[in-house]
Amino acid sequence: MCGIVGIVGRSDVAPQIVDALKRLEYRGYDSAGVATISGGRLARRRAEGKLGNLERKLAEEPLPGRIGIGHTRWATHGVPNETNAHPHFSGEVAVVHNGIIENFAELRAELAAEGQEFESQTDTEIVAHLVSRGMRQGLGPVEAAHEALKRLRGAFALAIIFAGDDDLLVGARSGPPLAVGYGEGEMYLGSDAIALSPFTSNITYLEDGDWTVVRRSGATFHNAEGHEVSRKRTRSSAVSFFVDKGNHRHFMEKEIWEQPDVVSHTLSHYLDFAEGKVRNVRTPFDFASLDRLTISACGTAYLAGLVGKYWFERLAKLPVDIDVASEFRYREAPLSKNGAAIFISQSGETADTLASLRYCRAAGSPIGAIVNVGDSTIAREADMVFPTLAGPEIGVASTKAFTCQLAVMASLALMAARARGTVDTEAEREFVRQLAETPRLMSEALKLEGPIEKLSHRLSKYRHVLYLGRDTSFPLALEGALKLKEISYIHAEGYASGELKHGPIALIDETMPVIVIAPHDRIFEKSVSNMQEVAARGGKIVLITDRKGAEAATVETMDTLVMPDAGDLVAPIIYAVPVQLLAYHTAVFMGTDVDQPRNLAKSVTVE
Ligand code: G6P
Repeated sequence: MCGIVGIVGRSDVAPQIVDALKRLEYRGYDSAGVATISGGRLARRRAEGKLGNLERKLAEEPLPGRIGIGHTRWATHGVPNETNAHPHFSGEVAVVHNGIIENFAELRAELAAEGQEFESQTDTEIVAHLVSRGMRQGLGPVEAAHEALKRLRGAFALAIIFAGDDDLLVGARSGPPLAVGYGEGEMYLGSDAIALSPFTSNITYLEDGDWTVVRRSGATFHNAEGHEVSRKRTRSSAVSFFVDKGNHRHFMEKEIWEQPDVVSHTLSHYLDFAEGKVRNVRTPFDFASLDRLTISACGTAYLAGLVGKYWFERLAKLPVDIDVASEFRYREAPLSKNGAAIFISQSGETADTLASLRYCRAAGSPIGAIVNVGDSTIAREADMVFPTLAGPEIGVASTKAFTCQLAVMASLALMAARARGTVDTEAEREFVRQLAETPRLMSEALKLEGPIEKLSHRLSKYRHVLYLGRDTSFPLALEGALKLKEISYIHAEGYASGELKHGPIALIDETMPVIVIAPHDRIFEKSVSNMQEVAARGGKIVLITDRKGAEAATVETMDTLVMPDAGDLVAPIIYAVPVQLLAYHTAVFMGTDVDQPRNLAKSVTVE
């Protein structure tokens, strides 16, 4: 999604703005731009595509100026081209924007009726015109910005500068996050702390509805009504790292390989391996008395929740409702009085997940959030955060955050099971032992990279792929299909194996490989029957199983990946590895932009 930067600096700020934009690249974007003020005049450079294109333009025609704003754009209104790229200008005003102005058509019509002409197809441009109109009507810049904000509906984070004043930056937040950063005689605005990490760790997050006036000497904060308010300064941990690819070709590859470490780190937060027990982590709800758990999330995080449903229901006998957040938020689901809600999000900023959280908050549910970004909005609005300790995830397609979400889910399910008396000490010890083994088993699974790479080469020749799985391997089948389609652009579908005969079997022929995820568990034989059905119709099977499964599968396969033996509970955490590697290497063969696949965003702050 779009990323915003603003700097009121001591010397020319364009290079700093580009540096900050590079740190926002991971969010996904299709054009970028910078505007500065020099000699009382606004100037900008914008470019379609990657930041390299913008950097080349800036090298040819540098932008002087001690104040500026910058933007990476993920197109919503209007195609990704230079004209639609931000910053947008109107008279003395320049604006960058993340989000969607929902009453854009109405405002555009109003401005058009007054004779306003439009340069772009964006919703953002109308913000510049509204502020500029206010100034023409005699309002000062800050007042004009505030008046314009009052007219906007939707989700937005904005940064605005004014040609006549090189010591004034106005920011506003309604939905997507925005942070003010404090430097030495310099001040910053950014979509997240990572963007500002080269400059400062001293951060204030705007609350929803806030706007801010930023000058070299500091910032003031105002709520939607215009009253000055005080907002807490925090120290961001984002400053302590510089994220690079190490020796890996892509962030995604690096993040896949980091999994044994980060899963181990996450598990040790929740489990006492030595004692064979779940730690007494404080929760906002009493698991023993809950009659229902509601889980909601988007994308890969939703699929982690789906695995969690199996675990909570099986281990803790706790019924779970789970839904994608974009459906849940409008579904008007009645919530149980004795229920609780858990939201899962890597970024902690996904608009639909946040809206679902607020729905449950309004209904009075206690709220837990499994998040990776500790100072995100979802983390701040939950009663309790269950952190995933994956570290920064840069690849748009989630990998290590997913397995860490699974690690947290398994730990919480075990915690609930103990509180509800559905596991005894022995069983708890056994589950903790299985979980303690997962980092080692993930490392074993990573050793399959060679054969997976070969298989991926073959897979990259197909246009359609079907993934099948039963039980906790069903969400993994969905995740496998999601990963493959999002980064390799090969069409893929995930199905519960038992559903094969209710539709997808009609598609089976030699042109559609079927990837079956089936550890040798209590229902393995059912999966063998499904594979027979595929084989009988000329389908090509890739079986991902363990040693026992490989021996027991009486069916010819195109390839069989033999995974290390793992307990039933932890299998999904380990089987995520080959599923991710398969998608990754197929995408590499296809030559796609693996870390920033087309049209996708890392942090989806709009509906
Ligand atoms: C986007 C990302 C996915 C992610 C999903 C949910 O679609 O590309 O990788 O799973 O959003 O994001 P969240 O930050 O809420 O986990």
